Amino acid sequence: MSLIWLEKISRRYQMGSETIHALREVSLAVEHGEYLAIMGPSGSGKSTLMNLIGCLDTATAGKYVLNETDVSDMDDNDLAEVRNKEIGFVFQTFNLLPRANALHNVELPLIYGGVRSEERRERALEALSAVGLADRITHKPNEMSGGQRQRVAVARALVNRPSILLADEPTGNLDSKTGAEIMALFENLADRGNTIIVVTHEEDVARHARRIVRIRDGLIASDEMATRS
Ligand SMILES: Nc1ncnc2c1ncn2[C@@H]1O[C@H](COP(=O)(O)OP(=O)(O)OP(=O)(O)O)[C@@H](O)[C@H]1O
Ligand SMILES: [Mg+2]
Repeated sequence: MSLIWLEKISRRYQMGSETIHALREVSLAVEHGEYLAIMGPSGSGKSTLMNLIGCLDTATAGKYVLNETDVSDMDDNDLAEVRNKEIGFVFQTFNLLPRANALHNVELPLIYGGVRSEERRERALEALSAVGLADRITHKPNEMSGGQRQRVAVARALVNRPSILLADEPTGNLDSKTGAEIMALFENLADRGNTIIVVTHEEDVARHARRIVRIRDGLIASDEMATRS
């Protein structure tokens, strides 16, 4: 059974008398351990699709089965529960707590999850080591480089051991060298069995993924295995 199963998913937005078809009957299956890039022009529906996959939003029509659970008609509470369990998010703007050091930022999802403090610390340290930041755990976001901040955000996304890592333009605020380092980290995480979906408009970034899905006007225009450079 696929980890992600989207069947004829549509998402419409009603703006007064205008109906915007952000996604039009999109079907997509993603297996455990895949590393996928979603590409497409601005306004094509990438973020809409990510929000649906990440259970931040629900479709207007169609069926979504995530890790063998049909989430299509779930209410917000149930959806939040699935989201916390299954999804780790990485954003373009890092979204770290400015006053908290790296360790505390990574511990946060575990605090919400009710994990005891010793285990929290242990797992946060493990996640920070996995992203190469074992020597920066007491640094606050403004005491780190952009790339290091994004690695803290990746560690935070992974600390709950989610089944999917979702990243919307994770390199958008980074220079190209630092962006490449984040993509190398994602490759490393993919090699270790993590399922990763990255939204990007940069071909260089997408090339790191193993499969590239291109979206245009709310439709999947192509879905191909990436050619490795
Ligand atoms: N909350 C909303 N209300 C109304 N329309 C929306 C909303 N969110 C997105 N849209 C519209 O849906 C379409 C798809 O938007 P989406 O944000 O998914 O694009 P995108 O591919 O992520 O673009 P970008 O590359 O600029 O981030 C656009 O036409 C957008 O204007
Ligand atoms: Mg977007």
